[in-house]
Amino acid sequence: MNSSTSSSIHTDLDVAKLPLHVAVIMDGNGRWAKQRLFNRIKGHEKGVQTVREIVRTSREIGIAHLTLYAFSTENWQRPKYEIDALMALLVKFLKSEKKEMMDKNIRLNAIGQIERLPKNVQQELDKIMVLTKKNSGMQLNLALSYGGRWEIVQMVRRIALKVKDGQIDADLITPEIVSKHLCTNSIPDPDLLIRTSGEMRISNFLLWQIAYTEIYVTDTLWPDFTKDEFLSIIKTYQQRERRFGGVGE
Ligand code: FPP
Repeated sequence: MNSSTSSSIHTDLDVAKLPLHVAVIMDGNGRWAKQRLFNRIKGHEKGVQTVREIVRTSREIGIAHLTLYAFSTENWQRPKYEIDALMALLVKFLKSEKKEMMDKNIRLNAIGQIERLPKNVQQELDKIMVLTKKNSGMQLNLALSYGGRWEIVQMVRRIALKVKDGQIDADLITPEIVSKHLCTNSIPDPDLLIRTSGEMRISNFLLWQIAYTEIYVTDTLWPDFTKDEFLSIIKTYQQRERRFGGVGE
């Protein structure tokens, strides 16, 4: 597709029905590399280019929250060389995007077991989170060493402690109180979840938050995912009827 087709999809979007929060499971970097007889790291490197394009496009069209699953709690089981490469790519990405995040008014936020990340990654994240704290154009949430079950366990622990201390009455625990004790406490639930590379799984991502999220799975591998496909998925989302368990119109 050329850029004029892309901008026509862009103008086709119904601004009033934009998803407030788009979450993405970026999958298929390894397969993309394998298909080309490359090392898996090459797939991740190409994947970072897609990250740039999708962040830029989300900001351009007015998405308020973009959450990217960049490293799961299970990803620690990967070979050390791959983990090291992913962490190095992350630091490189953060350093190179700092200026654009400021220019485009993007706020960076990290969710997950941040204390498990290498010190240099934590420092870079901290630096940019402080720098971009007041930005209000879009919030980019990077899920790092993130797992939905870990998040639920830490939420249960935090609420249990408050019940023990008498700060919360166990009989009055509501879904809102649960949401407030998750690491996404200030972020609305995702309206749209996109998964690339065709796998029909959630892979421990935002388990509580996706209760009524619209899911879209594409066969495209993450390094091949484009702005045009992203825009066309958003268009498809806008055509879906969301009933939230009700009967609709
Ligand atoms: C899944 O592909 C992808 C990941 C585990 C990491 C995602 C990371 C990036 C896109 C790059 C770094 C991120 C940022 C934000 C700079 P896979 O390796 O599981 O692919 P496969 O299933 O085909 O093996």
